[in-house]
Amino acid sequence: MKQKFSIAIHGGAGTILREKITKKTDKDYREGLHQSITAGIDILKAGGSALDACTAAVIVMEDSELFNAGKGSVFTNEGTNEMDASIMDGKSKECGAISCVKTVRNPILLAKLIMEKSNHVHLSGEGAEKFAEMHGLAFEDKDYFFTKRRWFQLQTVLAREKEIQETVTILDHDGDDGKHGTVGCVALDNDGNLAAATSSGGMTNKKFNRVGDTPVIGAGNYADNDSCAVSATGHGEYVMRLLTAYDVSAMMLYKNMSLKDSSANAIDKLSKLGGSGGIIAIDKNGTITMPMNTPGMYRASCTNTETEPNVKIFADE
Ligand code: GLY
Repeated sequence: MKQKFSIAIHGGAGTILREKITKKTDKDYREGLHQSITAGIDILKAGGSALDACTAAVIVMEDSELFNAGKGSVFTNEGTNEMDASIMDGKSKECGAISCVKTVRNPILLAKLIMEKSNHVHLSGEGAEKFAEMHGLAFEDKDYFFTKRRWFQLQTVLAREKEIQETVTILDHDGDDGKHGTVGCVALDNDGNLAAATSSGGMTNKKFNRVGDTPVIGAGNYADNDSCAVSATGHGEYVMRLLTAYDVSAMMLYKNMSLKDSSANAIDKLSKLGGSGGIIAIDKNGTITMPMNTPGMYRASCTNTETEPNVKIFADE
């Protein structure tokens, strides 16, 4: 049987500006994206499931300091890390989600564990970590999650909040202000199954156990074999109000719109509400679209007809 697969990943959307990004940072991100999507492609080429491909691709980004998920997560107002993640199987509609976990090395593995081994969809905080411990998931101490760059972003935002006159700009060397980066993957496997996985450290300076769109099924992540799989990145408070990921699927099912039109429409709605971000989406035919309303989104895509993944950063690429 001829092999047919498609896969797309994102490593966050935002004010990613050509003039702010150094050659080295550009190269590092492109390499990180390449490594992530390759992990997913290898699984799909070997006949593995979309679910496993998405998990593998997200783990690579969670393990990299570059992206706001796992290691590299942004800091809360209290100087801690609180991570959110979710995963969904388009065939069974089973899904798992976690919010506000602090020391689980790979939040996406915990979301998958909840989907596969619990009677629940969403576990949060200490309860989620207890469940992870019961099932032998890897934990790291908080030093593992500390990165200078994310700490600097928090200090910059705190200084602004206190109205201290700062000469530094909120944008650091790569133009990422840490406001709302996220990582995600969507895939179609050889059996025609779709899946989506998304993981995030949330927003710099978030307070009061704030939860973003990433673990809210239908907001930051959704998969349905009858329509599409979607992973969102951007300002969670807006994505949650629009249920952006489910909205793309609903427009396809109820209005018979194409993946590209429904995805573009979802981003228009985000813009009209005042939110910023982007999505990656894939349909049951393997079509991929990656619209955004920001200057950039770290992203990559590949299908069985291509020999190399397409890796992109800026909106006009
Ligand atoms: N999109 C990530 C967040 O807002 O938490």
